[in-house]
Amino acid sequence: MKIRNICCIGAGYVGGPTMAVIAQKCPEINVTVVDINKERIAAWNDKNVENIPIYEPGLSDIVAEARDRNLFFSTDVDQAIDKADMIFISVNTPTKTYGIGKGMAADLKFIELCARQIARVAKDDKIVVEKSTLPVRTAQALKNILDNTGNGVNYQILSNPEFLAEGTAVDDLMNPDRVLIGGDIDTAEGEEAIQALVDIYAHWVSKEQILTTNVWSSELSKLTANAFLAQRVSSINAMSELCEKTGADVNEVSRAVGMDSRIGSKFLKSSVGFGGSCFQKDILNLVYIAKSFGLDEVADYWHQVIIMNDHQKKRFAAKIVQTLFNTVSGKKIALLGWAFKKDTNDTRESAAIYVADYLLNEQAEIVVYDPKVTEEQIYADLDYLGTRSEKENRERVTVLKDPYKVCDKAHAIAVLTEWDEFMELDWQKVYKAMLKPAFLFDGRRLLDRKTKEEIGFEFYAIGS
Ligand SMILES: NC(=O)c1ccc[n+]([C@@H]2O[C@H](COP(=O)([O-])OP(=O)(O)OC[C@H]3O[C@@H](n4cnc5c(N)ncnc54)[C@H](O)[C@@H]3O)[C@@H](O)[C@H]2O)c1
Repeated sequence: MKIRNICCIGAGYVGGPTMAVIAQKCPEINVTVVDINKERIAAWNDKNVENIPIYEPGLSDIVAEARDRNLFFSTDVDQAIDKADMIFISVNTPTKTYGIGKGMAADLKFIELCARQIARVAKDDKIVVEKSTLPVRTAQALKNILDNTGNGVNYQILSNPEFLAEGTAVDDLMNPDRVLIGGDIDTAEGEEAIQALVDIYAHWVSKEQILTTNVWSSELSKLTANAFLAQRVSSINAMSELCEKTGADVNEVSRAVGMDSRIGSKFLKSSVGFGGSCFQKDILNLVYIAKSFGLDEVADYWHQVIIMNDHQKKRFAAKIVQTLFNTVSGKKIALLGWAFKKDTNDTRESAAIYVADYLLNEQAEIVVYDPKVTEEQIYADLDYLGTRSEKENRERVTVLKDPYKVCDKAHAIAVLTEWDEFMELDWQKVYKAMLKPAFLFDGRRLLDRKTKEEIGFEFYAIGS
């Protein structure tokens, strides 16, 4: 079966980059990315490709090449579904904020809405691909909805979880470690659908790197991968606290441990804590699934990864307060970085939000600089926590586009995102403009201690 038209529902951090790369690599396939968010679609269609809504190194060039050739962005979801042979569902699956499973389970209402819309619109057979990260066995629910509310057409459901990391999305998509495709391996129709998706990826990914499994293994593998990655960060962060008490240095420990080929060096960098839209919600979802099967020990085991991460963020903020003579009330604290990691404008679950919130509760004045995050986003993130009024957030938090102004007359600086440009700042100039003693807290192990101490900073870095 040859796919000619693809529709992707959801033009976010996954749908946008993934489809841009498919369109670039498969010029004979028309790819239409749809979203109910009009502003987001308008930004994807902005004449100036530098204004697309998602910042990822290399992405705007790909969009410039493929857009309006065989890559389209639209709000007309029905039309795109109708035309497509293959429909990717790439909508958000946040943690539930209400009802049963509140604070743990994945909220699948956007997924269900997509399924109902596909069922209503589709007049011929479709392959539906789960691109969103979903609880294991969601494909069963999708199939139920499609078969029971549809127009009598046939559906094949595939699971094709996305393993890209924000900040390196384009490279991850171009050179994936593997592509995972789960489908109904017991029927000829299932095999044919799997093959159709394999053929798309085979345009640029070698056959050995395309894994095919049953649907449930594929769904569960994505949650497992995120849980394992987050667990490594929490494990090294747990060691960072012990390093601070014992005179060991977490970077040295992580290097020594990571050179063991059985362990490997990636995801062993200690920090103020992991953020991003995925790790926390996917682990909570895993915990919820385990609990719902009565597997309390399994649930508790994975939950500890989240507890450790929350502890790390609080511990870092508390260290700032304690070091500044046990009070930051009325003191200006400069935050360098707001994105959850470098090279992305995504701020979901960023450690910076929680550090800022903690310091605001201690009555600090916060000034923020981030090269890619907008002022509106920073206020929206703080407002979302609901800790204080929107008015108060705007009175007590200032966002500036100049790192030197942010640090001017500050009592302390906290580095919260590992943007490369922070290493290149004129730290002598920063030091001069600060109040003394000038405290510098490195939450990312980004800066060189020796040169900062020589300048005169009181320097603290996680894990040493
Ligand atoms: N962000 C990542 O790094 C990452 C990596 C791998 C997997 N994932 C998973 O991919 C999924 C999407 O994540 P994201 O970061 O792209 O989310 P996102 O919030 O950036 O994008 C989702 C988009 O879906 C749109 N949408 C929601 N319901 C819709 C509907 N009914 N019709 C049309 N559009 C609709 C929203 O408006 C939004 O623009 C999630 O399940 C996530 O867990 C994310």
